[in-house]
Amino acid sequence: MTLLTLDGVDAGYDGTRVVSGIDLALDAGEILALVGESGSGKTTIGRVIAGLIAPQAGRMRWRGQELPARRQRTQRRDIQVVFQDPYLSLNPYRSVGGVLGELLRATGQTARRADTRRAAGELLERVALPAEVAAARPAQLSGGQRQRVAIARALATRPSLIVADEPTSALDVSVQAAILELFGRLRSDLGTAILVITHDLGVVEHLSDRVAVLQAGEIVEQGSTGQILSHPSHPYTRRLLAAVPRLPDPPEAPGTGRPSS
Ligand SMILES: Nc1ncnc2c1ncn2[C@@H]1O[C@H](COP(=O)(O)OP(=O)(O)OP(=O)(O)O)[C@@H](O)[C@H]1O
Ligand SMILES: [Mg+2]
Repeated sequence: MTLLTLDGVDAGYDGTRVVSGIDLALDAGEILALVGESGSGKTTIGRVIAGLIAPQAGRMRWRGQELPARRQRTQRRDIQVVFQDPYLSLNPYRSVGGVLGELLRATGQTARRADTRRAAGELLERVALPAEVAAARPAQLSGGQRQRVAIARALATRPSLIVADEPTSALDVSVQAAILELFGRLRSDLGTAILVITHDLGVVEHLSDRVAVLQAGEIVEQGSTGQILSHPSHPYTRRLLAAVPRLPDPPEAPGTGRPSS
């Protein structure tokens, strides 16, 4: 089922046009990677989809219906955003459990205190955080834990789509893979569609079903991840792929036929 379509969308800030003629389609449960160099307009597209800025032209549809710039409450809940730096988007004065609980109550999922606490605990479990994190404030957590909290908060409204803007680029490499794995698990367990905005072709390779390549505000190529990575047709995509630093294969340990560690 098609969840979201963008049809000839233009967008920008204060009358300036940053992206133009954007055509995109996203199916339920699909992971689409939006790639392109810095300043090409990736975040701008994410903001339009999330309803944070209004398109200047074009149409957006959500589950087959016109998606207005001013979202209905259910549409706001159905499309959630996870940003690069959760520190900026998490209230420093609120405990994690308090924030999750408020969302659960506001969306009518829980009413009684004990139910709210249990549901918040389930959200933390879903993002593989220990229950004690409920009592913590953002400053008391590591970067990876904060990003998990931001994901739990996004999940609290049971969205069908999460727009994840560079969700791993502020994190230590050792944590990046775990966060990517978490996104993959959300999709397979909950059927959440994900639009992942990234510079990192490793993210593309490991997570996404399809890729759209943005250059200077226009989509120059889109297709399945396998197709784009192995047979990029646009010269810009080829340059983008060629610019990725690849780690050399690990040397084989003598006699074992396996890589040494
Ligand atoms: N709030 C804003 N007001 C005015 N111009 C903006 C604003 N945000 C972004 N821009 C401009 O829009 C263009 C695209 O920015 P955008 O943030 O969408 O790029 P991006 O592809 O996400 O880049 P990066 O990879 O660096 O995050 C840039 O030229 C930027 O200067
Ligand atoms: Mg950006």
